Amino acid sequence: MKRKWDLSEEQYFGIGIYRPKTAENLGTLWRTALVYGASFVFVIEAKYKKKSSDVLKVWSKIPLFQYKTLEAFLDSVPYSCQLIGIEMDDKAQAIRNFEHPARAIYLLGAEDNGLPNQLKNRCHELVYLPGETSLNVAVAGSIVIFDRINKSE
Ligand SMILES: C[S@@+](CC[C@H](N)C(=O)[O-])C[C@H]1O[C@@H](n2cnc3c(N)ncnc32)[C@H](O)[C@@H]1O
Repeated sequence: MKRKWDLSEEQYFGIGIYRPKTAENLGTLWRTALVYGASFVFVIEAKYKKKSSDVLKVWSKIPLFQYKTLEAFLDSVPYSCQLIGIEMDDKAQAIRNFEHPARAIYLLGAEDNGLPNQLKNRCHELVYLPGETSLNVAVAGSIVIFDRINKSE
């Protein structure tokens, strides 16, 4: 007999940064991702070097995927998983009203230039967080993760 899946068993999320500039920002986001149940983290066009401040050894608990190119990342997006760009953009919707998809990859931009149009155009949705000026990228990602788990409860 076919087992009926509960919705909670059909969801996951990953989060990552396009061209992150500092290992500290990635480390902070990675730790939030671990604590709040992400399945993976990733970077696009960047290399990660292990930090001594990583006392939780996050690399041993949740995988970091490193995509050499933007195209390699886009090719890897799994079936039935939505790409959600996190950006202050005219086409973005407020996170307040955003319903997180069951399966999502959240994509953050570089500290200096944000997300390129080539990536924004490939996102199923763009979402912005409140504020007149931009937040630190790891803080923005952590708020998105918190919003997801908060709304799912
Ligand atoms: C420091 S911001 C980049 C700012 C960049 N100078 C610009 O103007 O595009 C780095 C990343 O954090 C995220 N971010 C920061 N504040 C945000 C906000 N209010 N809404 C959505 N994303 C935000 C975005 O992913 C952004 O690409």
